[in-house]
Amino acid sequence: MSLSQIARSIKASPTLALNEKAAILREKGDPVIHLGGGEPKSRAPMDAIMAAVGALNSGEIRYAPADGIPELKKAIIRYTEEFYNRKVMPENVIASGGAKQALMVALQAILNPQEEVIFPSPYWVSYPDMVRLCGAIPVPVKPEDGTFYPRLKDIEDRVGSYTKAVIINSPNNPSGAMYSEEFIADIIEFCEKRDLYLIMDDIYHRLTFDGKKLINSYKFAKNLSETSKLIIINGVSKVYAMTGFRIGWAIANTKLIEAMTNIQGHQTSGPSVLLQKAAAGALNGIQSPIESLRLTLENNRNIMIDCLRSFEGVKVTKPDGTFYCFADFSAYEKSSQKLSNFLIDKVQVLTVPGAEFGWEGYLRLSYCGTIKDITEGIERMKWALDPNSPNELYIGDRKLVRDWT
Ligand SMILES: Cc1ncc(COP(=O)(O)O)c(C=O)c1O
Repeated sequence: MSLSQIARSIKASPTLALNEKAAILREKGDPVIHLGGGEPKSRAPMDAIMAAVGALNSGEIRYAPADGIPELKKAIIRYTEEFYNRKVMPENVIASGGAKQALMVALQAILNPQEEVIFPSPYWVSYPDMVRLCGAIPVPVKPEDGTFYPRLKDIEDRVGSYTKAVIINSPNNPSGAMYSEEFIADIIEFCEKRDLYLIMDDIYHRLTFDGKKLINSYKFAKNLSETSKLIIINGVSKVYAMTGFRIGWAIANTKLIEAMTNIQGHQTSGPSVLLQKAAAGALNGIQSPIESLRLTLENNRNIMIDCLRSFEGVKVTKPDGTFYCFADFSAYEKSSQKLSNFLIDKVQVLTVPGAEFGWEGYLRLSYCGTIKDITEGIERMKWALDPNSPNELYIGDRKLVRDWT
């Protein structure tokens, strides 16, 4: 079979593959603990469900504008006013099939083959492949000081004549790091000066801890006119626990939104009207579930960090937000893929190998599940990895015997 060069350059999404693996193992009856997940476990907001049910009951679900139904765009405009203190026009907004599609059509609208897109590492698994899907070249940049916090210089050093865009994701998947206001201000100024697109992936912007407040990029932008190359990406997946609804959006200049709409129009004719109604319901509805989700995640983060800190050999940086923790396990095993496979095989704990995010020796652990999953998951990992562990571990009535060193 002859596949395109682009198709051959793209891997399956490792996180989606892991979800499938968890489902298969559970079906077999294995006592799996999934610390690799990327979605909150709370229910979707009732306002979202009621809005979708109302639309469904009408029995009239039709084609709609490719850039989103007016009702959702209105809700996004209001949201942007509330959280970004900025009034945008409907022509500056596109609703897409998740933040993922919003990012994808933005990249397709700005990239020519061989152009480069820079993003700090560790990075969200999809950025490199999304850039490759456009025939362009991903340029991950690892902060020189070895932390999760890039400095402008790290990025500046990699900008060349082919650089077209920079992607910033803060709070960050996988590290949970929230970049400083100073860095955000610097990168905005830098991209404006160098005439680069700057894509701010804000999908976790309200899931922040320790009193940290979301950072509004518009506050630092000098150019807020229609020539601005700042693109804000957001969506309902994480903050509203609506991952399966697949609704996200982008805010950008009119010309770019028009180009993105043309692309999206041919790809999908826009996201499902029903799910757009649900997203509008969530954005316009009662907001208290978000604060309770945020508080739950902050508490879960604290528990996970305590568990990991009692784990000799593991190095961990406290996440500022999201529901991920990116911990250094290289003292046990340098290959994160091997380590992740080992943990599934021996103790049925699912983790995502750091290599998928550009960092070897690390594992991404999620704390969006239950406290029991977090504590028991880390306990099992400790048992498997610590050579001084007792020889046996019981999971329910299942006895595991440590037959490795
Ligand atoms: C950093 C980042 N951006 C975008 C997305 C995609 O969000 P959505 O589910 O809305 O497509 C994710 C999902 O994991 C993510 O972690």
